Amino acid sequence: MQEKLERTTFETSRQAEYFTAEGLTKLTEQSREDFGNVVLKELGDNALDAAETAGVAPELLIKRERRGNITRVSVSDNGGGIPPKTVESMQDFSTLTSDKAHYRTPTRGAQGNALKTIIGIPHALDIGDEPVIIEGRGTRHTIKPVIDAAGVPRLPSRVESIGERVGTTVTVPLPTKRVKLDPSYWTKAFAIFNPHAFVNLEQVDVGVEHVNGSPKRSNLINRPCRTPLPLVSTCPTTGVALTGTTRAL
Ligand SMILES: Nc1ncnc2c1ncn2[C@@H]1O[C@H](COP(=O)(O)OP(=O)(O)OP(=O)(O)O)[C@@H](O)[C@H]1O
Ligand SMILES: [Mg+2]
Repeated sequence: MQEKLERTTFETSRQAEYFTAEGLTKLTEQSREDFGNVVLKELGDNALDAAETAGVAPELLIKRERRGNITRVSVSDNGGGIPPKTVESMQDFSTLTSDKAHYRTPTRGAQGNALKTIIGIPHALDIGDEPVIIEGRGTRHTIKPVIDAAGVPRLPSRVESIGERVGTTVTVPLPTKRVKLDPSYWTKAFAIFNPHAFVNLEQVDVGVEHVNGSPKRSNLINRPCRTPLPLVSTCPTTGVALTGTTRAL
């Protein structure tokens, strides 16, 4: 009896670790300012893994949309799409969910807890009402974790049909001022270490005004590889295609 009680306590505290900055610092070995880069690294790894598992050359789109205090980062891929069942089982914080438990690569992990840390990070950074959104296989999961009084995470999530589309997109909200985020670093890093991959970056600043009153766009163009096309540049040597935003603000 005594033994069972101890085990329950241990599991509860381990689950709560995913939702506090201290716990996540232990799990990720990164300081809270670097949680944004943890999100980009883990989502990029998953996206590359998914495309490779599907047997296609990876095409990633990394987006960073800054809207006042909230910055949304998302990574889309051209893999097989995350199955809804995987998203559900991944939301059980007392277990690990992975499709690659039997192999490891030096630069990509295989523990089955990265998505859990990604769901915990916005909550640990007091993001408020902003959800994490996971889309794959025609299904959108909108997830907003709540920690109950006993420290057990509950993940009320809305599941809706969005129509079939290729791959997976995961969108994570982060507090603009509290995390360091370097999407262009990760775009280049993924491309350099994965020469078979195409990695695209789109950065948008919403609602930021120029001194003259016109909206400001923050585009990242890979200048040495610029093509005559005004909004798209490709860099065949690294496989990076950096795309300036074309979205109306
Ligand atoms: N972009 C994606 N496309 C398809 N499936 C995905 C994607 N991202 C995650 N998954 C699925 O969700 C599982 C859990 O992902 P998660 O990142 O938590 O663990 P992992 O990649 O297996 O290991 P690690 O914790 O080391 O990253 C993966 O094993 C995979 O089955
Ligand atoms: Mg992973």
